[in-house]
Amino acid sequence: MKNEIKIFSPATVANVACGFDVLGFCLDTIGDEMVIRKTQEKGIKITKIEGYDLPFEAEKNVAGVSALAMYNALQPDCGFEIEIYKKIKPGSGIGSSSASAAGSVFGMNELLGNPLNKTELTNYAMKGEALASKCEHADNLAPAIFGGFTLVKSACPLKVLELPTPSDLFATLIHPQIEIKTSESRAILPKDIPLANAITQWANVGSLVHGLHTSDYDLLKESLSDVIIEPYRKQLIPHFDDVKSAALEAGALGCAISGSGPSIFMLSKTEATAKTVEQAIRKVYSQTDIKFETYVSKINTQGIRIL
Ligand code: HSE
Repeated sequence: MKNEIKIFSPATVANVACGFDVLGFCLDTIGDEMVIRKTQEKGIKITKIEGYDLPFEAEKNVAGVSALAMYNALQPDCGFEIEIYKKIKPGSGIGSSSASAAGSVFGMNELLGNPLNKTELTNYAMKGEALASKCEHADNLAPAIFGGFTLVKSACPLKVLELPTPSDLFATLIHPQIEIKTSESRAILPKDIPLANAITQWANVGSLVHGLHTSDYDLLKESLSDVIIEPYRKQLIPHFDDVKSAALEAGALGCAISGSGPSIFMLSKTEATAKTVEQAIRKVYSQTDIKFETYVSKINTQGIRIL
């Protein structure tokens, strides 16, 4: 059995417009790399962090917290060292904490001969995610671990449904270089919502799921809409409405906030359209003084992978 592995832990888009806290999909071109190593000395140690300034104490680091939860439950006859090569900026809205939380448990599971299934791994990873967002949600973790589109049917007990990925679907993302803390963008949300909005939203979730199952791009286009969360959160994202109009005009099927923001994602049919959309949204942000990055990615149907 191997003593060390290197993995790619992908960025993810949570909510997917209408599916707040339940839907997510996995990206392919953006993600962290991590090295997980077995040690004779017991316990979990984070020995290297590159890219961003994050805590080395396992109890304060999302990768460490999820690793400790799994380690304490399994009580293996060894310890683990974790190296984190962070590429996903914390607070970007594309699952930075989830990539770390999922990566450590995925790597340890591999080195232990895969005693845990993907649902069990997601459960441990949720402990790390909770450190970052102050609540246990799995809509970034599930797509990172399972790949493709996922629906968290229930968080407790955890039940994840794997949804199909239409083959021509591509994502475009813009990441304005401002930080929005998930805990803060959750705090501004209303506790109660109008019934009429709830009806629209659950109709959209249902039809989005149906659209994924039938590769019905027109239905996906009609369903990628969020009437509940977006009106509150878009105020935290400069030029959100301009980006959305430009993206839809350039041919995107839909455009919405990625997770808790500030990143904004679009889905398009074909890579060519996704790239046209990228140019259109770059034009919007180029006219501002906010730094930004854009990405085009196919949907990653594999999830975390060994490098
Ligand atoms: N569903 C979560 C939210 C994802 O939107 O708050 C944040 O990572």
